[in-house]
Amino acid sequence: MSLSDKVANEFAHFLRIINYKNKGEPDSSLSEADKKKSISLMRVNASGEVSAQALYRGQAFFSKSPEIKKHLLKAGDEEFTHLEWCSKRLEELGGKKSILDPLYYAGSFTLGSIAGLIGDRTSLGFVEETEKQVVEHLKRHLNEMSSKDTKSREILEKMLEEEEAHGQEAKEHGSKQLPLPVKGVMTATSKIMTTLSRFI
Ligand SMILES: [Fe+2]
Ligand SMILES: [Fe+2]
Repeated sequence: MSLSDKVANEFAHFLRIINYKNKGEPDSSLSEADKKKSISLMRVNASGEVSAQALYRGQAFFSKSPEIKKHLLKAGDEEFTHLEWCSKRLEELGGKKSILDPLYYAGSFTLGSIAGLIGDRTSLGFVEETEKQVVEHLKRHLNEMSSKDTKSREILEKMLEEEEAHGQEAKEHGSKQLPLPVKGVMTATSKIMTTLSRFI
């Protein structure tokens, strides 16, 4: 593929993701309060999955090793599956996805590109740290979410398992630990994103 084809392909993916919506039958089994809570948490998770695949695709775009590129794209596809689950659940609950998703995608793709340009081992270190933070975040959501929302909980539990595997795979491919200040910036950025997506 030529460079312009590759860029066009990425742009098409961006459009596909920001316009993505999954159908779901309305779920009326939860109380209003539980539903409201689940909507805000699932909106955050849907945004997280938009960002996750943008990160992976940015990293894959600049990865030098064909093997690592393949691995990053595969993980990115799994994040798309997570987006399908979150988006469907959001629809069932009657919630809307975040209006900030295009911004998250663009920002995450840029960050992923920078990591990819620095080099594959740092890029994998970035994956390892991101997934570690995502796992911690999903655990917090499981604590916060009503025990009655079994459908959303099932999704979060399955995602948690797969995000753990993504982190482990990055390690196995030779990830390099990121410096502490970088990890701190990543925590702060995700805190801002997850707080905003709760509301808009
Ligand atoms: Fe994910
Ligand atoms: Fe992941």
